[in-house]
Amino acid sequence: MKLVRFGVSMEERLLGEFDNLLDKKGYANRSEALRDLVRRCLIGQEQQDLSADAIGVISFVYDHERRELSHRLTRLGHSRLGKVISSMHVHLDATNCLEIIVVQGTFGEIQELADQILSIRGVLHGELMLAPRLPNQES
Ligand code: NI
Repeated sequence: MKLVRFGVSMEERLLGEFDNLLDKKGYANRSEALRDLVRRCLIGQEQQDLSADAIGVISFVYDHERRELSHRLTRLGHSRLGKVISSMHVHLDATNCLEIIVVQGTFGEIQELADQILSIRGVLHGELMLAPRLPNQES
């Protein structure tokens, strides 16, 4: 892919803070960090089209001893909100479990599924990561 160079003006102090962050994150140079930032912004934009195809990763910690919680989570996993294509369960300690599920569907479906899961009482530390499905990922 063709790379295009362009100039960016920025306050010295802001650039200094940016460089410090790049060091911490391990970026080789500013260009690579900037490309990542732009990609992240564009994904945010894409999410506004709720009918676009996406892949979502929903991760959360929950207490398996809470009554009904496991059943509700299983029921949601089998709901029509997207299609769960993979999942991982880790027993963290005597009562807490970490669950990571990968869902295929539209941005809207996946967002709704994540909202339903993460809003259940007893579900902690939940997070949703969404990425657009690119045209060459058709299956
Ligand atoms: Ni467990």
